[in-house]
Amino acid sequence: MQLTQFSSWKALTSHYQSAKHLHIRDLFESDPLRQTRFSVLFEDILFDYSKNRISPHTFNLLTDLAKEVELKSWIERMFSGDKLNHTEGRAVLHTALRLPRHKPLVVGDQNISSLVHRELDKMSEFCYQVRSGRWLGYTGKPVTDIVNIGIGGSDLGPQLVVEALKSFSDKPLKCHFVSNVDTMHLLEKTENLNLETTLFIVASKSFTTDETMTNAESLREWFLKTTGAYDSLGKHFVAVSSNQAKAISFGINPENIFNFWDWVGGRYSLWSSIGLSIALTIGIENFKEMLAGAHAMDEHFRTAPFEKNIPVIMALLGIWYNNFFGCESHAILPYDHQLNLLPAYLEQADMESNGKSVDRDGKQVNYSTGGIVWGSQGINGQHAFYQLIHQGTKLVPADFISSAIPHESINNHHNLMLSNFFAQTEALMKGRTREETLNDLRELGLTDTEIEKQLPHMTFEGNKPTNSILLKKITPRSLGSLLAMYEHKVFTQGVIWNINSFDQYGVELGKKLAKKILSELNDTCLSRLHDGSTQSLMTYFRMLTAQ
Ligand code: F6P
Repeated sequence: MQLTQFSSWKALTSHYQSAKHLHIRDLFESDPLRQTRFSVLFEDILFDYSKNRISPHTFNLLTDLAKEVELKSWIERMFSGDKLNHTEGRAVLHTALRLPRHKPLVVGDQNISSLVHRELDKMSEFCYQVRSGRWLGYTGKPVTDIVNIGIGGSDLGPQLVVEALKSFSDKPLKCHFVSNVDTMHLLEKTENLNLETTLFIVASKSFTTDETMTNAESLREWFLKTTGAYDSLGKHFVAVSSNQAKAISFGINPENIFNFWDWVGGRYSLWSSIGLSIALTIGIENFKEMLAGAHAMDEHFRTAPFEKNIPVIMALLGIWYNNFFGCESHAILPYDHQLNLLPAYLEQADMESNGKSVDRDGKQVNYSTGGIVWGSQGINGQHAFYQLIHQGTKLVPADFISSAIPHESINNHHNLMLSNFFAQTEALMKGRTREETLNDLRELGLTDTEIEKQLPHMTFEGNKPTNSILLKKITPRSLGSLLAMYEHKVFTQGVIWNINSFDQYGVELGKKLAKKILSELNDTCLSRLHDGSTQSLMTYFRMLTAQ
């Protein structure tokens, strides 16, 4: 049955006709318990979703939808290793990467948990070697700099976490990330490196991604040419990959290849050995704390009733706006410099997962699926794009995320930032009524004619939905929980839309075409196999570069 035929979907469709007129301000006025009703405390993370365009009835209908699509059984199937990624014939088991050692997970005849912990132990030993200064470069010096060479899931997650948790780094080890194949990026990231003390991690699940392999090859060439240390490549290059053979043929010592498995999707891989750069920077104990935080969120997702289940609620609210209000996008607005990279990370997590237009049976869907996820630091956004969210014609639901206790704060900086977080969600929700605007303008001493002119510009509706996610502090544990929370939100939406959130054939088509075009660009003459636009762009490029 297509999603739109479900009775809860039909009920939501008809409920929307009246619910679209609800104003959140009025909902607060008529229900003094609204905030308590519509918030969940998970450990010390407060998830407040009371500033949404929902009534208790809307909420009940949404949770009915989750029940009708049998979300509970899909969750169980994911956690127990069913091949939910049916197009690639793979299980989806990033949750197994966060299992504590004493919790076995047997899939087929394998104890997945023991595989995971074997690899974690290997990472742990390596981290100890590097962080204690026992791992030495070709001139006998300990490591001072780590360069993670990867892209997409092999870059965004580790980079976000290293940035977010840098205050937990107790060693003077610096971590750099090279992802873009643009030479400028490579040069910028490597110009101050001392090769004697630099460790390169080639992070690629497939070990075939062009950008990563090109960067890795250039850095290997640079290392060998500069140092002449041909026998010492293994001291400076390690790999994280599920493709051992390719990593070995690149020249990596098999002992220094950290493995992970086909049941870990690239965008869900930061919890695996792809997180090696994280563990090296903040230490393996902190890395394990992050896994524990994610595991705690896994348990919450698996066991909490839908009415109190944060990822499920986030997903349902997203469906409400995407499919009923017709919202195209969702903004991620961290009020925390440490979470600077969260929007970019979530762009991949969400859009690469749910950017699909056929259902699990291969039928074209007749409803909207994954939305556009975007955002940047809230405080900067206020001075850039918030105007559109406040007064534009598009409805943009947003997540506001911050922490109460900063790692560093001088004078009143942190309170100033948080005051903006709170003020913005309040302003977006309340807007400014005609009455309030009139009073404000009168106080300014404007004449009636001037007031009439100004009124429509300065009155605004409000009723803009936001979720507020307030952490006590950004720690490895709370960050782990936060990221797992978003992963499960994405999963839940994929289940409701009945799509496979775990393949990404669209991206792969682009990769294949780029390979073909690259060989043409490197060749003396171009083929005539492309469309008119691509053909002429390539010809113009050739003309410019030949000059
Ligand atoms: O963008 C497509 C993709 O396959 C992502 O899913 C993945 O995270 C990224 O490329 C990098 O892939 P790999 O780790 O195999 O180099």
